[in-house]
Amino acid sequence: MTATVLSGRRVVVGVSGSIAAYKAVSLARLLCERGAVVDVAMTPSATRFVGPLTFASLTHRPVVTDVLELDADQQIEHIELAEAADAIVLAPATANLLGELAAGLVGNAVTAIACASRAPVVVAPAMDAGMWTHPATQRNVATLREFGYIVIDPEVGELASGLTGIGRLAEPAAIVDAVERLFVRTGSLEGLSVVVSAGGTREPLDPVRFIGNRSSGKMGAAIAESARDRGASVTLVAGAMSVAPPRGVTVVEATTAQLMREAIIRAAPDADILVMAAAVADFAPARASQRKIKRSGDNLQVELVPNPDIVAEVGEMPDDVRPFLIGFAAESDDLEANAAAKLRDKGLDLIVGNVVGGPFDAIGSDENKVTVFGAEGPLTDWPMLPKRQVAERLWDLIGDRYRRRRTEGDGGPARTKGRRRS
Ligand SMILES: Cc1cc2nc3c(=O)[nH]c(=O)nc-3n(C[C@H](O)[C@H](O)[C@H](O)COP(=O)(O)O)c2cc1C
Repeated sequence: MTATVLSGRRVVVGVSGSIAAYKAVSLARLLCERGAVVDVAMTPSATRFVGPLTFASLTHRPVVTDVLELDADQQIEHIELAEAADAIVLAPATANLLGELAAGLVGNAVTAIACASRAPVVVAPAMDAGMWTHPATQRNVATLREFGYIVIDPEVGELASGLTGIGRLAEPAAIVDAVERLFVRTGSLEGLSVVVSAGGTREPLDPVRFIGNRSSGKMGAAIAESARDRGASVTLVAGAMSVAPPRGVTVVEATTAQLMREAIIRAAPDADILVMAAAVADFAPARASQRKIKRSGDNLQVELVPNPDIVAEVGEMPDDVRPFLIGFAAESDDLEANAAAKLRDKGLDLIVGNVVGGPFDAIGSDENKVTVFGAEGPLTDWPMLPKRQVAERLWDLIGDRYRRRRTEGDGGPARTKGRRRS
């Protein structure tokens, strides 16, 4: 089998109780043919239309029909699938399923997987025209779009009732195309060298203690993974991270601000784009004790000295070596003013601002709500999204800006540097 963007991807197909359930058989077959590992989940109603056996024989995998089922290893099946999924496609999605998803009701295996997963979700509704055009359905669809779900509108055609109208499930090939588009993005980074920093730094106090921060590295890891999937050659400069770095990227470990500076300054001149998502400590102990500091009963004074300002240093590099530069601003208040000042003062091309320390705290979360700022002000108004989807949107924007800079030929930093390494 020739490799496709779906090769090895875990795709969950969720089937609900529509007459169009038979088309989910073709959908599952097409996904398998493109190399995806397909797991099918069915609502109880769906099993009245097509037998689970059909899907099991096609996919060579068990089919989940009961939200209360455990798998052979006594694990909760719908959670296992939700966590493993690279993409979820709900087809056909009944009016009832859309309502349940929008309301967060998880009474069957399909809704439970969709709700528990952070993978992107494609929804292909199928129903009677009256149901589709009903305000309740349209409201539910709008809610799902707000969640970041990709909704493939149904087509006009003959419906189960015998009437002609809107509501027919999109063709399986069109649904597969939408799933593939999740992995091949228009903003291709083919041929570009991308450096991403991620995670927090740990500034040593003594051989066992450090001053650190709560950064998990999840945002930077998602940005690196997404750049990899768009064809970039990616280097991840990794501080302390609570997640594994994505496969297929070059990892340079740099757990202190000094090490991170060395790694970034070394990598920047060869990078086309540098995304500084790491939480680098602003201060470090002036001296790290060679021996473990003992409890003495007295107060302990630790002198902190400023760490190098890595982003600013890259921002000041001469134009022929400075990469297209994106910084992050984690602010507890006055995000817009602080982000704008940082963009200007540090010579950044774009800055991604997020709020920390409030009712929602992006640090460590699987989701994030960010605003991207350019010199002209805020550029985005994105909802709270899984970090991987934030990364996708970021690359759409960064790729666009980078290419624009290149075609404008303003002699600025946006140019392909790949050739220099050969
Ligand atoms: C023959 C037949 C075809 C149906 N087709 C659809 C359909 O295409 N879309 C839909 O929303 N409901 C359809 N329904 C109604 C759903 O099966 C019903 O709302 C069910 O409760 C959906 O359950 P589920 O969403 O849990 O799968 C159909 C019912 C029958 C009897």
